[in-house]
Amino acid sequence: MRYEFTKCKDQGFGKVELLASSKSGNIATPDMPESITLRISKSSPAENVLATFEEFKVPVKKWTTVLEAILYVKQNFDHSVAVRYSCRQASCGSCGMRINGYPRLACYTKISELDSNVITVEPMYNFPVLRDLAVDMTQMFATHKKMKPYIINEESELGPGKKEFLQTPKDVENYLQFSYCIKCGLCNSGCPTMATDKSFIGPQGLAQAYRYVADSRDKGAKDRLKIVDESHGIWRCHFAGTCSHVCPKGVDPAMAIQLLRGYLLGFKK
Ligand code: SF4
Ligand code: FES
Repeated sequence: MRYEFTKCKDQGFGKVELLASSKSGNIATPDMPESITLRISKSSPAENVLATFEEFKVPVKKWTTVLEAILYVKQNFDHSVAVRYSCRQASCGSCGMRINGYPRLACYTKISELDSNVITVEPMYNFPVLRDLAVDMTQMFATHKKMKPYIINEESELGPGKKEFLQTPKDVENYLQFSYCIKCGLCNSGCPTMATDKSFIGPQGLAQAYRYVADSRDKGAKDRLKIVDESHGIWRCHFAGTCSHVCPKGVDPAMAIQLLRGYLLGFKK
């Protein structure tokens, strides 16, 4: 394959032309094109560079992921594209972004499932943009830490000679799905309350607070309930449910928030 990258400065717009294509290596089916147009949002707020889109023609196979398409662009056309990733297997939570308008993990989203020849990638909503697709997640991690995301025990329960903490399968079931959170931030990115209240704890933090409150080994519920029961806390949630809809790991933050409210209202102990 041979591509030509042309940049039109006055429009701030880049385009890659497909000059010739070889059939080898690509699977073209009625459902899956040989190549797609990848539109990448490029911006640098620190340098007052507003977001513009650059377009690239990228060869794809039916298993090509959006992250692979972005890395193809970095390798072949524009190495300056800022994108964060690590594991490439939906484990590290680094590659969250908006893909055709929807919060998704780029490494976990196949081009073939998007049903479009044009893929647009943009940074997540509700996070400050550092550059291009990379956002600043400092506040989300600070909030996560504020929820005390660890088991809190009495000193007297720990130490030599003490027995292990036993749990029944039901005890584990109470918090298990919430422990699958990879801190990707997609739930916060999809949350309409976060869009209007930058200080809102957010679905990620609230789901993690519930994860530990619901753990039978933990004694820190009182502390955490106090932390979430504040003006930018749990009561700001309007139960839009987007957080649960976009979570790539099957966590249901909207449900966690309702269950956490149950503790605060005295329905649950
Ligand atoms: S709850 Fe889901 S969407 Fe939210 S940070 Fe955790 S894994 Fe990501
Ligand atoms: S690269 Fe780790 S979750 Fe996508």
